[in-house]
Amino acid sequence: RQVALLISGGGSNMVKLAQSMAEPGHPARPCLVLSNNPAAGGLARAAEMGIPTAVVNHRDFPKDREGFEGELQAKLEASGADLICLAGFMRILTAGFTAQWAGRMLNIHPSLLPKYPGLNTHQRAIDAGDAWAGCTVHEVTADLDAGPALGQARVPIEQGDTADTLAARVLVQEHILYPRVLHRFASGNRTPLND
Ligand code: GRF
Repeated sequence: RQVALLISGGGSNMVKLAQSMAEPGHPARPCLVLSNNPAAGGLARAAEMGIPTAVVNHRDFPKDREGFEGELQAKLEASGADLICLAGFMRILTAGFTAQWAGRMLNIHPSLLPKYPGLNTHQRAIDAGDAWAGCTVHEVTADLDAGPALGQARVPIEQGDTADTLAARVLVQEHILYPRVLHRFASGNRTPLND
């Protein structure tokens, strides 16, 4: 499979996915790292790894989500991508775009979905007094953070945790979970991972 990795920031998940795909026998290869943010640190990290990069700045398409996504699609088609991994990608995609990539687009969300879709997931889990937090890799559908889960990883919420300390603990698990799920998914196995 040819995988396009979409980022908006540092791209730590993108780096882990690309490193995983470099292992011998892996059924997928990274063909593009695409960001909506021209200043995303992940672009330089992708270039260092020899992965083609592109930017489609959403600020160039004010109030024109379709126009933005049309540019994304053009870059994706030019790259030959047949699978998308959203990895710290912070733009909401329209139903049209998600339908175009139905069954071929994954995302990692930093909560134990269906709890805490959307933003500020760690603070919300702490404020709720939850004992556990974690991350979910899921197929992307038109409903935000609601697609079929392909895998989850849990971490305990510790006394005195802040959103930052919890996010750091969850991120370690993201870096393990996402490559595992991508390998299975790219091999044609869509059954969820259950540890
Ligand atoms: C991570 O917390 C991830 O869960 C969320 O974006 C954050 C940054 O990811 N999707 P990355 O370091 O840019 O991969």
